[in-house]
Amino acid sequence: MDIVLNYLKGNQKRFVEELCDYVRFPSVSAQPAHGEDMTKCATWLVKHCKAIGLEARLCPTDGHPIVLAKTPRKASGPRKRHFLVYGHYDVQPPEPFDLWQTPPFEPTIRGRVIFGRGTADNKGQNLAHLKAVEAYLQTRQELPCDLTFVIEGEEEVGSKSLDAFLRKHRAELQCDAVVISDTGIPSAKHPALTYALRGIAAFEIIVRGPSRDLHSGIFGGSVKNPAIALAQILAQVHDAHGRIRIPGFYNGIVKLSDYERKQMARVPFNATAYRKLLGVRELFGERGFTTDEQRTARPTFEINGLTSGYQGEGSKTIVPAWASAKVTARLVPNQQPAQVIKAVRAFLEKHCPPGVTLEIKSGHGAEAYLVSPRSADAQAALRALRGAFGREPVLLREGGSIPIVNQFKKILGAETLLLGLALPNCNAHSPNESFDLDIFAQGQRMSALLWRELASQRS
Ligand code: BES
Ligand code: MN
Repeated sequence: MDIVLNYLKGNQKRFVEELCDYVRFPSVSAQPAHGEDMTKCATWLVKHCKAIGLEARLCPTDGHPIVLAKTPRKASGPRKRHFLVYGHYDVQPPEPFDLWQTPPFEPTIRGRVIFGRGTADNKGQNLAHLKAVEAYLQTRQELPCDLTFVIEGEEEVGSKSLDAFLRKHRAELQCDAVVISDTGIPSAKHPALTYALRGIAAFEIIVRGPSRDLHSGIFGGSVKNPAIALAQILAQVHDAHGRIRIPGFYNGIVKLSDYERKQMARVPFNATAYRKLLGVRELFGERGFTTDEQRTARPTFEINGLTSGYQGEGSKTIVPAWASAKVTARLVPNQQPAQVIKAVRAFLEKHCPPGVTLEIKSGHGAEAYLVSPRSADAQAALRALRGAFGREPVLLREGGSIPIVNQFKKILGAETLLLGLALPNCNAHSPNESFDLDIFAQGQRMSALLWRELASQRS
């Protein structure tokens, strides 16, 4: 093991340069203009995987290509446990550009932190796993497990092609468990195993009024303004205490156990620091729940975008023809996206005022994920975290979603170990995204130790 760990230690400088190369690709999956950059990034990854000793190939899909890489397998010898390491090379759109201190795709190192879009979410995190494997392969140390890497390019847009990919390659992807580093840790002192993620239901609400924008002086007052109608509808969703008023929305939700509450309490919460981090004067959330419960264990209804009428410079006196809201609800275990959307639809339709029409377009959806932190594999992961960070790991629920963990379960029958490396201040999805380079190194060590710990577990 020392040989592997020493290799990691001795190569950090090059690893950081490689992370910079990886981040330079503007692999923005949401923007068609970056289609070619997506393929370029994936091709670079395949080449990189091959260079470190993996068998790798680019798998085209209906959307962006998927990178599939494996540790070379010996024909003879005892069967090893097989793990699938999942990551994504696509990134969120970098806009607004003017808020970046340094350009999003020109990675910059300040102190022990690298800045750039995708550094934390998810390039730095998946590269940490690749570097751990490189350490084994390049020092000719026997890898205690067989590994398959699946690094996709559509995670940030709902992983549309991954389902078919998993079905098609089901036999070769059959594994003991999936390992994903695409979540967070509360602080550098709190390495974490995440055992729950929220699900999601995305939809768009469109309110339509007149057949075109109208002069608001000539006609205003005589027709229902769609922007006002939408505001009125949306204002019905929450009560004054942050509770969602949609009948049936909370159906079937299970309360947190005392054990979970205790685990949550192990991470110190500082409301002032949290407020500062978010740039708000005051926190607000559903009454009766702690901040951590609100953001990880309670469902939400969030407006992600609100559009109507004139958005350009100066003023324009119109009654807009339409108004739209992009919404995502975060879901917790036992909520079904389809049922949530059904309940939302009934509620919004009921509250739609006369004079306008309402359309609800449903988008992607995923159930929440919950896995036992007491399983033998989870215990192995905790040992790897302890070894790499030299600290007692915490058990977390996370508020974000990784929709495909459900697919791994359904299609491959495999549970997922979530071993995130991103700090709360990493600015994922925000300007000035960053990744801590010391945690990058610790993540590599964690990955190296993980395969030893998981191998010692009988499946
Ligand atoms: N890495 C995140 C998910 C995440 C972040 C989970 C932090 C837990 C803690 C992932 O890349 C992501 O952003 N997912 C999207 C999924 C959506 C587009 C379906 C999300 O959560 O918004
Ligand atoms: Mn993300």
